[in-house]
Amino acid sequence: MKDFIFHSPTKIIFGRGRNREIGRELAKDGISRVLMVYGMGSIKRNGVYDEVTGSLKESGIEFRELSGIKPNPVLSKVYEGIKMGKEMDAQAVLGVGGGSVIDSAKAIAAGIPYDGDVWDFYSGKNPEKSLPIYAILTISATGSEMNGNSVITKEETMEKRGMHGGVISTPRVSIIDPSVQFSLPKEQTVYGAIDAITHVAEFYFNGSKELNFPDRLCESLIRTIMDSVDILLKNPEDYHARAELAWSATMALNGMTAVGRGRGDWASHQIEHALSALYDIAHGAGLAIVLPAWLEYTMDVNEDKIIQLGERVFGVKERAPKVIEMLRETYRKWGAPVYLSDAGIPASDIEKIAENKSIRYPTGYAKKLYKEDVVEILRIASGER
Ligand code: NZQ
Ligand code: ZN
Repeated sequence: MKDFIFHSPTKIIFGRGRNREIGRELAKDGISRVLMVYGMGSIKRNGVYDEVTGSLKESGIEFRELSGIKPNPVLSKVYEGIKMGKEMDAQAVLGVGGGSVIDSAKAIAAGIPYDGDVWDFYSGKNPEKSLPIYAILTISATGSEMNGNSVITKEETMEKRGMHGGVISTPRVSIIDPSVQFSLPKEQTVYGAIDAITHVAEFYFNGSKELNFPDRLCESLIRTIMDSVDILLKNPEDYHARAELAWSATMALNGMTAVGRGRGDWASHQIEHALSALYDIAHGAGLAIVLPAWLEYTMDVNEDKIIQLGERVFGVKERAPKVIEMLRETYRKWGAPVYLSDAGIPASDIEKIAENKSIRYPTGYAKKLYKEDVVEILRIASGER
């Protein structure tokens, strides 16, 4: 085990009907004016909007609304939120939605007290201040509800990049009611699960060896996520499976899987960010294509771990290529794309993807990758190799 610091400042409130507690939580923290941020309308259809605004009103919290955050959220919308937050003198930002909404809330919260351009925080600078962030999670995927990351796309340059604000940008309180995810379209449940699995994989496959609990934690998360998806594809309203998936996805990127292991690899994520920046596909869909291809390409450093995954997650004693194929098969069975062409991306675009600014070379930690390596990974992802 490597030395570590684990510091998570987020209070998690988990369970059915708990969204109604948000007003009280804000009031307890002395907050009376909040900017509420949400997406394209799902919260109005599934009752979450009424629950949250009802709770805010009951606790006497004044609020303004910024709606219309799209999946793969964009910088122009963040600027709009910063302007609104400054005008109303917001004391906190409340994100009600998935990763796209919560990531935008984090960007807005960091941008309000900052005199410069908030994009600085997506170009390597870390925020020193932020308004407090609160979250109501409606889709389990990114772990944004309990981490300090935010991923935003700058439209002019088509680059998707991350802010890593640490504790400063980590939500103070996040409420997770798994039952509000009954209304998710099947593919969103699947993409969320694949994202969470890939977060685990970024740490599991970082070249670390001789870890017992940290590896078993990762394997347990992946197995639980897979079992939950299998149940939810048959019955989207299975509360127990929703709850297991929700907590596993939060745990997949709240720092726990990094404990004793050091930094994650993150090459698959950077390559995927190029895909979702260029083609606006769901993040989880892009990862279903990239992760198996990345595993194939990095087999020289990851072979033992892939075999271990086969034994402990899939329950088979197989060689690494077979285990990777089993992962692809699982994703395919769930209806996710596994090759670029499944997502309508032509192999002739490979150079363009590898050159997209979302990827910062050299990328990767388990294996350092340059542009030529990413081209090879994308070739595998095209099914050409
Ligand atoms: O916009 P609305 O109408 O709310 O619809 C959303 C959206 O279309 C819908 N949805 C969410 N909850 C729902 C629902 N529909 C019905 N019922 C519900 N309960 O689902 C769609 C996807 O939402 P989105 O927020 O985009 O999903 P996700 O949570 O997967 O977030 C993806 C974004 O997060 C970034 C990704 O790159 C992508 O931009 N990531 C953020 C990370 C982080 N902050 O740590 C790490 C990740 O690796 C990732 O990069
Ligand atoms: Zn992700």
